[in-house]
Amino acid sequence: MKTAVVYTSKIGNTAKVAKRISKAIDADLFKLGQDDFDTNAYDRFILGSGVYAGKISKAMSRFIESNDLKNVSLFITCAYNDDKGAKQLEKIAQRYDIADAIFFNKCDYKTDGEDTKLSQYIKTL
Ligand SMILES: Cc1cc2nc3c(=O)[nH]c(=O)nc-3n(C[C@H](O)[C@H](O)[C@H](O)COP(=O)(O)O)c2cc1C
Repeated sequence: MKTAVVYTSKIGNTAKVAKRISKAIDADLFKLGQDDFDTNAYDRFILGSGVYAGKISKAMSRFIESNDLKNVSLFITCAYNDDKGAKQLEKIAQRYDIADAIFFNKCDYKTDGEDTKLSQYIKTL
């Protein structure tokens, strides 16, 4: 299976997480608006964006809506955690009809280790 990790990042948090994921699973890494790539060359997409006023970036939104992507996992990095984070994620995942979605608060990716939410997610990929 050929996997692309595709992300947008305004402040840099999502970039860090996307890099960590792509390295861990040996996937190709693309930043929207910066890197050109052919979606047809991939059969799995791990998409990452920060959340701004409850929404993912416009570039990521356009990317999802303008491509008929199969096999998508979406991760967002955000300030909210716990219930607020879960509710925010649910809204976003429903909006784009993505079943496999997860959020990472900075507590989830600022530390390394086997037991972080991020390392657990990576194991599922
Ligand atoms: C203008 C702005 C709006 C934000 N709005 C939200 C929000 O609605 N919900 C949330 O959980 N985090 C919010 N955040 C926090 C960001 O989602 C978080 O810092 C994220 O990791 C940013 O991703 P990036 O560094 O890849 O740009 C906001 C941050 C900024 C700068």
